[in-house]
Amino acid sequence: MKRTLPSLEGQPLEGQRAFVRVDFNVPLERGRVTDTTRIVASLPTIRWLKERGCRVILASHLGRPKGKAAPEYSLRPVVPELERALGAPVQFLEDPLAEEAPHRTRQLKRGDVLLLENTRFYAGEERNDPELAAAFGRLGDFYVNDAFGSAHRAHASTEGIAHLLKPAVAGFLMAKELEYLQGALADPARPFVAVLGGAKISGKIDVIEALLPSVDTILVGGAMACTFFAAQGFEVGKSLVEPDRLDMARALLDRAGPKLVLPAGVTVAKELSSGAEIKNVRPDQVGAEWAVYDIDENAADQFARLITAARTVVWNGPMGVFETPPFDAGTVAIARALAAATSEGATTIVGGGDSAAAVVRAGLADRVSHVSTGGGASLELLEGKELPGVAALDEL
Ligand code: 3PG
Repeated sequence: MKRTLPSLEGQPLEGQRAFVRVDFNVPLERGRVTDTTRIVASLPTIRWLKERGCRVILASHLGRPKGKAAPEYSLRPVVPELERALGAPVQFLEDPLAEEAPHRTRQLKRGDVLLLENTRFYAGEERNDPELAAAFGRLGDFYVNDAFGSAHRAHASTEGIAHLLKPAVAGFLMAKELEYLQGALADPARPFVAVLGGAKISGKIDVIEALLPSVDTILVGGAMACTFFAAQGFEVGKSLVEPDRLDMARALLDRAGPKLVLPAGVTVAKELSSGAEIKNVRPDQVGAEWAVYDIDENAADQFARLITAARTVVWNGPMGVFETPPFDAGTVAIARALAAATSEGATTIVGGGDSAAAVVRAGLADRVSHVSTGGGASLELLEGKELPGVAALDEL
């Protein structure tokens, strides 16, 4: 069990500089933030520290600038969004490694918030360079990691620094993510159903392996279902199949037995476009000219029945090409089924990335128990891996 912010209650926090790693790796379009979910998710931690008179120093990466400063990856556009969300001014420090940077953090008033420029503008960040970690460490008196989305990266600002600045604790978002993605799944209320989708089984194989012993049912949708269909000898036409994974898929089907449920029907088209002619067919009737782009209504009903009867549901990966309607229908149906299960008292957890985006687009984000802010990080947790950014934090 990792130490969290409330464990600092009662300690003399006033005036202390909290170095807070957040994940502000947000989408930008023409210099504007187009999705503020990750910014809003960091507010409880920032507010808690502000209210206790800490000087709050925020650090994040944005994109993959490969160790060099590049204006298109600047965190500056986050400042107005964070100010709006927080209802307070936010300062910006362009060069966190400048000689005067530590002085600048000490000059902050109690409760002030300062955002550092992109940690990945320095080559040492991704190398977890101890010197860079030490330089970041000079900007704070203690460390808070609230960047769940980056916790699977062993970088200077997520891992190295946690050994230098003490105490090193989890922020509220980090704690909540771990509570759901680790805690709830460690001892799940049953039936426990996992819903997996996305393009490739190669990306989900470790999740299937890790979940198989504990789940009651794994529902498989998305293009990855096609590799399972092909492994069963079905003609899947022009669908996306991973030929080098067919043996693996066959072995998994054998081992999982009735636990692994494939869609009873699929929506197919000859081309991936919104206006294309579509058909709903059984998976063994796809036809040479056609490709599977979604699960069909029958499969959505089949999956929804199992989801709404469950007490714990975890979902990772869309059921079809949800960016291109009408191939979003299966994914939206799953989002609705999770919302229905939640209202019946089930714990429902949506992994980050595409499935999180789908739940938000369906307007159902507040009708499931938890939507993760981490794509890769939530996947690695589901694979049963230890996240370096979490491992480095103090034990309670
Ligand atoms: C994410 O968006 O998944 C995280 O911010 C991690 O980003 P990365 O994959 O570039 O490390």
